[in-house]
Amino acid sequence: MNTITKLSKKNTLPTPPTSERSRFDNLPRHLAIIMDGNGRWAKERNLSRIEGHRAGAESVRVIVRSCRKIGIPVLTLYAFSKENWQRPSREVQALWRLLSRYLKSELGEMMENSIRLNAIGDIRELPRTVYRLLANTMEQTAANREMILNLALSYSGRSEIVKAAQKLADTCVKRELKPSEIDEAVFSTYLYTADMPDPDLLIRTSGERRISNFLLWQMAYTELYVSPVYWPDFREPELMEALDDYQRRERRFGKTGDQKGKEA
Ligand code: IPE
Ligand code: IPE
Ligand code: MG
Repeated sequence: MNTITKLSKKNTLPTPPTSERSRFDNLPRHLAIIMDGNGRWAKERNLSRIEGHRAGAESVRVIVRSCRKIGIPVLTLYAFSKENWQRPSREVQALWRLLSRYLKSELGEMMENSIRLNAIGDIRELPRTVYRLLANTMEQTAANREMILNLALSYSGRSEIVKAAQKLADTCVKRELKPSEIDEAVFSTYLYTADMPDPDLLIRTSGERRISNFLLWQMAYTELYVSPVYWPDFREPELMEALDDYQRRERRFGKTGDQKGKEA
């Protein structure tokens, strides 16, 4: 029985040994990852980009397991951006095949470990069979409570904000809401991440230092961490390094260092 299976049987997280306890303190409540570098990883090995994505899917399995084990409540993975539709269709199709395979092979583990799968993005744009499989997986895992795994698919941060604005405008036209009643809290409830905390930490792999249209609203105060490692090589040691780095940071939210932790 692996550690994660043991966790799910008890349905509580184990107390970590003292030496490791600091690792479990002050964890992000929401971790977001831009999984980048599959293509370059493959190129360096004279493999096809698709081979790179296959190796990247293995990192997804490992990182989801690790996050569940250490008790990160929300994990959001950027798997496919709206802009990624512009890639060669062979590559796009391979990505959907890999997603389908992932959803089928991981359902058992998601159930055992109480992981709720949720998709954010324009998932209606996905091929029908993939959409159905995704919708089924979301339905079957809907009551799982230990962790939310958000997959960003056909996702665009700007488009998410525009859609929220459209829905809000509709609500106002129907006179269910006054424009003056729209504040940040109300606006947030119209986003895909309505019932989730904003990401505390964003990791981007492969050394790229950009946001690429990811969670634009939600990342207002997110800590950023860039790893030089390509996504297929990003495994538990690299995740732990990122979390250690995050735990050492001082988050000020506009206050001074002295005010931190006190009411202003
Ligand atoms: C990330 O790896 C995976 C997706 C965007 C789907 P890339 O495919 O972007 O890899 P690089 O950036 O070309 O190395
Ligand atoms: C961002 O990666 C999207 C995902 C990780 C799915 P890209 O590799 O597509 O980003 P850009 O276009 O290089 O910024
Ligand atoms: Mg890339």
